[in-house]
Amino acid sequence: MKRVSWGTRLGFYLAAIGSAFGLGNLWRFPYIVTENGGGAFVLLYIFLAFVVGMPLLIGELILGKSTRKGAVAALAGERVGSIVANKPKPLWRWVGLFTVLVTLIVLSYYAVISGWVLHYVVRMSVGSLRPGGYDPIRIMNILRENGWLQLALTSVHLLLTIVVVAKGIEHGVEKWVGYLMPAFIALLIVLLVQALSLPTTANALRFLFYPDFSKLTSASLIQALGHVCFTLSIGFGSMVTFGSYLTDKHLIPTAGFRVAFLDTMISLVAGLLIFPIVLASPGHVSGPEVLFLTMPVLFQQMDGGTVFGVAFFLCLYLAALNASIGLLEAVVSNVMDRFQVKRSTATWAAGAIAFTVSIFPALGSSVFRQVSFHGRTVLESVDDVLINWMLPLAALGLALYVFHKLPNEKKMREFTIDTASAKLYGNWLFVMQWLAPGIVVVAILLHLSAFIR
Ligand code: PHE
Repeated sequence: MKRVSWGTRLGFYLAAIGSAFGLGNLWRFPYIVTENGGGAFVLLYIFLAFVVGMPLLIGELILGKSTRKGAVAALAGERVGSIVANKPKPLWRWVGLFTVLVTLIVLSYYAVISGWVLHYVVRMSVGSLRPGGYDPIRIMNILRENGWLQLALTSVHLLLTIVVVAKGIEHGVEKWVGYLMPAFIALLIVLLVQALSLPTTANALRFLFYPDFSKLTSASLIQALGHVCFTLSIGFGSMVTFGSYLTDKHLIPTAGFRVAFLDTMISLVAGLLIFPIVLASPGHVSGPEVLFLTMPVLFQQMDGGTVFGVAFFLCLYLAALNASIGLLEAVVSNVMDRFQVKRSTATWAAGAIAFTVSIFPALGSSVFRQVSFHGRTVLESVDDVLINWMLPLAALGLALYVFHKLPNEKKMREFTIDTASAKLYGNWLFVMQWLAPGIVVVAILLHLSAFIR
């Protein structure tokens, strides 16, 4: 299959940062920080983002670039052009398939949350949430109680995603979403100024940045690691696919650093924006609905809040759509490479599976209300199993492949571009071989210990 390349260096950045930026930053980050008690967890998260996440991200880009293939095909080690990778071993093929499976299931629950965002775009636009209008809790309850509405919104979202990927126009969408992102970031900063003028700001800063390590639990390490993978799009094979479009004018370690840095900054801004409102709310909202229960409160207090609200949810929706396109594309490009089927066939088949899986989280708070695992709803459980168990394992599988199977001279060629990066090469290898696997194993054992006790 012929691979296109990014026309410009900017094109790659827009796409890679666009893939990292999404619901992970604005929806999931505040949710898990609340669950894990604030500052100490934030610190752990930042540490892992740079010490483990960034090296793994670089590894995936290198894998894609040097094999010019998506994850499964790269791991299957077949002959690609003049490059003959190592002999395929079934184990690595399974790792590749596992990442594709994880990506497909993540897409299905990502689509449900994207549907929530869509609901807020509509509610904001028709003025339901203007000052004196509906209470934000009421809007969330409408959604919570009406599973069919959630399913309808999920299918609209998946349909849009499928159409873009089936037509193969995702690069076009990536581009204009990329241009929109700076505007979104500017909007977040304007909103931040508003949120920081709330009287609870000091408490929010303390909550976010003062590390109280007694708040950490045995699940915190895996939660921080899982979220790093999720927010940096690691372990999905999606960065491998992006890497496969890179050319020699891209410096991979620099690209990895920039993506990790920007993504982390955006999450911190999201936290600063949301926590003053969380702490001002009676009974401190928590759970996966934090974003949706807090932001409308801010908009109701602002001059021109409705306009800001529509702009915020619309930008968030476009970011979520862009992320979903990236997720589906990662699945589709692998299916196409592996089975040599047409793009549209692969897209509709993958989309249909994602829709079927999404039925469970979409109906989790209504039809399946009675179903709970350790006190968690279906949606929270899917999130937990995927992000805290499967995703770190998928990321680890890819890292180990890069370390053990990708020939050394290829890694070195992509990594060492100047003397500074040459010095870091040894450290990077150490992370790929020992540190990342070590942290994943310790995190999983700690998480398991909570079940045994
Ligand atoms: N990183 C995205 C987010 O934070 C999720 C994502 C993962 C998107 C993989 C594309 C590919 O929302």
